[in-house]
Amino acid sequence: MKPIGIFYGSSTGVTKKIAEKIKENLEPGLVEIYDVKYVKPSDVEKYCNIILGSSTWGKGILQSDFERFLYDVLIFSDLKGKKIAIFGTGDSVVYPDSFVDAIGIIFEALEGKGVNFVGEFSTKGYKFDSSLSIFGEKFIGLPLDDDSDGEQNKLRISLWTDFLKFDLN
Ligand SMILES: Cc1cc2nc3c(=O)[nH]c(=O)nc-3n(C[C@H](O)[C@H](O)[C@H](O)COP(=O)(O)O)c2cc1C
Repeated sequence: MKPIGIFYGSSTGVTKKIAEKIKENLEPGLVEIYDVKYVKPSDVEKYCNIILGSSTWGKGILQSDFERFLYDVLIFSDLKGKKIAIFGTGDSVVYPDSFVDAIGIIFEALEGKGVNFVGEFSTKGYKFDSSLSIFGEKFIGLPLDDDSDGEQNKLRISLWTDFLKFDLN
């Protein structure tokens, strides 16, 4: 596998913690983690394999650092031909109407930039009412609910990273 860059935005540390777990489940020596607060286009463009992670803060609202990164850095980066996987953190019990919306917002912002998206995930086992992250029958990335369903994290991360080992370059 080629090197992987994980780029996360996190307000209370949950998405950061998940980024570290994802790294452990891939080949750690190949993975570098970046807090999006400090990232410029060249940091992203050097990777063929990119993993993006953001929490959701209200209906349709990205984590604040990630929002700036998406609209000021990412959409101006050359992402053509890159493999991109997205994960998101949220709370399906307290916010069932906008569960992990960030995943879908990131996906839609980058559609049409010549990106190859990987890492869609089954909705089986999740309980929520509505999410902007569903395309077809599946989530377009990996949702994790550390607040209300955290005991599922280990299994979900393990399944997802196994898919990524096949699908990333
Ligand atoms: C004010 C507030 C609004 C939130 N809104 C949503 C939401 O709309 N959808 C969702 O899935 N989670 C929502 N959450 C839950 C956070 O996304 C969740 O706690 C996440 O793990 C935080 O990750 P972070 O510490 O990496 O930023 C909200 C949390 C707070 C405190």
